[in-house]
Amino acid sequence: MTKVLIDCDPGIDDALALALVAGTPALELVGITTVGGNVDLALTTANALALREFLDLGDVPVVPGSAGALVRDTVRAADVHGLSGLGDAVLPPATRPVSDGHAVDFIVETLRAAPGEITLVAIGPLTNIALAVRREPRVVEWARDFVIMGGSFTRGNTNPAAEFNMLADPEAAAIAFDAGWTVKMLGLDVTLTAMVTSELLDRMRPLGRLSELLVPAAQFYGLVTADGGPAIHDACAVAYVIDPSLFTCVPARVNVETAGRYTSGMTVTDFKLRDGRPNAQVATSLDVKRFWDMVLGAYEGLGER
Ligand code: BDR
Ligand code: CA
Repeated sequence: MTKVLIDCDPGIDDALALALVAGTPALELVGITTVGGNVDLALTTANALALREFLDLGDVPVVPGSAGALVRDTVRAADVHGLSGLGDAVLPPATRPVSDGHAVDFIVETLRAAPGEITLVAIGPLTNIALAVRREPRVVEWARDFVIMGGSFTRGNTNPAAEFNMLADPEAAAIAFDAGWTVKMLGLDVTLTAMVTSELLDRMRPLGRLSELLVPAAQFYGLVTADGGPAIHDACAVAYVIDPSLFTCVPARVNVETAGRYTSGMTVTDFKLRDGRPNAQVATSLDVKRFWDMVLGAYEGLGER
């Protein structure tokens, strides 16, 4: 059993990542923390609460965190995720409230209580993570692993240079990459190969109640993204935790640009390790067939419950 703490900004693909967690008995979810990102914090938190109940995630705490970036103006992606953050999916509103406290404290205290046991998975802007490592640098030692969906060594998506989670808070991303752990970076280079094709969508249609989330969310995403289809980016980070052998990963030094006029948030990735210090394992390829076998298998198991 692998324990995971998910920091997220649901978000269509965040929702599909949480569905993968819910459908994977080998994962134990210890908490969901939220951050302002795709939509405002109030909505990412409301979506996380609704998903907790819709996906039968039990009493796992949902703890709201940072509303905006450390120093920058807000960047949102409602054009990609819809005004609600979940595209055309409409979930029943949550009946249970958030937990008391702030996500940053929750991350620090949850990792402190179980050193070496919990994998921290960040699939939104890295604001909460940066604040946690600044508040308590030992979270870097306490986390079993730190896995992100973010960045790219080949391209951006929000603009030519930067991936959304990095662009939304470059200073936080730079702090997270420089914190002293080895960041497992699942970037656009691999996530854009995890597209929901029409055949995959057809396999999601018969999944009962779960299809009411998966199908309209993925369809909406496919209509609006400029990437050639709906890539379920954030599910790649969860898939990595479940089975890292799905990915080829290469050690690299990743520096996040914070001073560029056109390149803020760019993850400048040096595979040649010119300064000799890798701070990341960067995914360079994904076994797409095995990925979908795993994801659809999890969704099918969840749909049958
Ligand atoms: C990332 O940005 C967000 O819009 C998605 O939820 C994902 O985390 C992809 O660039
Ligand atoms: Ca996200």
